[in-house]
Amino acid sequence: MSNYKINNLQKYNDVYKSSVNDPEKFWEDIAVKNFIWKKKWDSVLEWDFSKPEIKWFKGAKLNITENCIDRHLKVRGDKTAILFEPNNPDEETQYITYNQLHKKVNKFANVLKQEGVKKGDRVCIYLPMIPELAISVLACARIGAIHSVVFAGFSANALATRINDSKCSMIITADGSFRGAKTIDLKGIVDEALEKCSCIKNVLVAKRIMSEINMKNGRDKWLETLLYNASDQCEAEIMDAEDPLFILYTSGSTGMPKGMVHTTAGYMVYTAYTFKNAFQYNENDVYWCTADIGWITGHSYIVYGPLANGATTVMFEGVPSYPNYGRFWNIVEKHKISQFYTAPTAIRALAKQGSHFIENYDLSSINVLGSVGEPINEEAWHWYNDNIGKKKSPIIDTWWQTETGGIMITSIPNVTPTKPTFATLPFIGVQACLMDENNNELEGNQVEGKLCIKFPWPSIARTIWGNHKRYKETYFSAFKNKYFTGDGALRDDVGNYRITGRVDDVIIVSGHNLGTAPIEDAINEHPMVAESAIVGFPHYIKGCALYGYITLKNVSESNHNDNTRKEINELINIRIGPIAKLDKIQFTSGLPKTRSGKIMRRILRKIACNETSKLGDTSTLLNPEVVKEIIDNALM
Ligand code: PRX
Repeated sequence: MSNYKINNLQKYNDVYKSSVNDPEKFWEDIAVKNFIWKKKWDSVLEWDFSKPEIKWFKGAKLNITENCIDRHLKVRGDKTAILFEPNNPDEETQYITYNQLHKKVNKFANVLKQEGVKKGDRVCIYLPMIPELAISVLACARIGAIHSVVFAGFSANALATRINDSKCSMIITADGSFRGAKTIDLKGIVDEALEKCSCIKNVLVAKRIMSEINMKNGRDKWLETLLYNASDQCEAEIMDAEDPLFILYTSGSTGMPKGMVHTTAGYMVYTAYTFKNAFQYNENDVYWCTADIGWITGHSYIVYGPLANGATTVMFEGVPSYPNYGRFWNIVEKHKISQFYTAPTAIRALAKQGSHFIENYDLSSINVLGSVGEPINEEAWHWYNDNIGKKKSPIIDTWWQTETGGIMITSIPNVTPTKPTFATLPFIGVQACLMDENNNELEGNQVEGKLCIKFPWPSIARTIWGNHKRYKETYFSAFKNKYFTGDGALRDDVGNYRITGRVDDVIIVSGHNLGTAPIEDAINEHPMVAESAIVGFPHYIKGCALYGYITLKNVSESNHNDNTRKEINELINIRIGPIAKLDKIQFTSGLPKTRSGKIMRRILRKIACNETSKLGDTSTLLNPEVVKEIIDNALM
């Protein structure tokens, strides 16, 4: 690999300029010098946002696992690739070297083949944060199967929806998972989901919690036995640059979750390049991202980006609170973590516990602190900076999305300045802009608008699985020839970006994207519910929490009880998962509506946020009287 690290401000400015003046030359140069290809591309970039169609490195042939594993064997075969830290601190850490990873991925790839998986088939992965998760992802990539990882906190129903949407033929799961002091019956959830999925032919089961589970004859197989008998040599499938690498679901404002499709070459180049630069990774660093591989952060910055750079990447199975709130810092000390990447919601939860959980640990190995998933508030930023970084480790506030595949706006540690609550400057190659209500681009600084990207970057998602029309409507229709992010942002006097939050009906709770529509659908299934509307309100730990306004069919006081609240939350739990449960439920005789019948969420949002003085004129509503009732009974 060439040294593609940007190490000073002058270089950032120069490289940024060349990356936007001649993007094709810029990315071609990075691609040539830093990766191995079976065949070079015919063209670097072909794009048309109006269709939309984006192709990077068209005609190139490669396999991403050769770039993430094989090419490191000669130079760093005995270096730890994956450092697995189990849920229980008394269980031994596993150090999987690049040599071992190579064998494990090949064995797994052979098992997939033997079980009938072919190039282009979709494989659902529903696993806890154990090494098999990263290995199965890479095994799919080895043989050209498209992985669709579903976060193992989702319910059977949510899992079934995702399996059916992309017609997965196999699911890889475990008997169960550990989560702090609790265990979760993953296989039970899978069995329930599969009652609704006829496309699944095979279920591979990893042993983790050693629980007694049902194994369905002819369908379910123990992974361990299959792996034991498989060869550890598996030639990598030759993939086209634009062949899909994976599908990952993310919530939209309405309807089904969107299966974002990421393709091979562009995704590899961009995640590798951003990883190296945003984290300023050095050869002997131990890097830790606390996300789950079930989310894009885990795909790009636990698996692909770090491994493409030959890094040591930590996989942590547990939770920050087990066995106590010092666990993160214990791991940092134990493995001398250099780069620590987490979410604001975790930072706030840890800050609340006070500093005594930190004091006993040596955090001096940390050089870089990262934040991702939601805006980081000023208080959390300072706590992180003072207590974890000891004011010497730059905080990178990385803004990006499932759809962008890689980090888009961030500072670069010790290269570009940081500023609390600001993601700061666009990353190399990223042409960000702000748009006003009249579809004009806002020029200059000190402006606020909707955040768009004007030019393709290599890891942009290429489509929504099975629904290109929705892809076009969601991302390329609001503003001509621009990718619309769904976020609002402002630019300060020197060009730093601050993300102000979603401008659509997506609510980010503890860093998880939640669409209001599927939650409302779940609530409306309750036999007593007539109608519902969900909005977000500020929450000290979660950043944002859910407030539900619910109208019951039979308006009688006796219905407005905590049992009904519990039942509604249980329904949400079953349909989506515990992350989507409501913090507050207010029963109301009606919801404020426009004369055309549209629910006025803006008003409900203001009430939930205790900003009733900013409601504006409500007299034109269909039912203005209901607003007063809702304010009077609001849950504060
Ligand atoms: O609203 C932005 C918020 O998270 C959304 C993307 O969520 P998801 O696809 O789940 O990916 C999260 C991890 C990359 C964005 O549209 N978001 C993400 N990072 C930040 C952020 N908001 C503010 N600051 C951030 N650093």
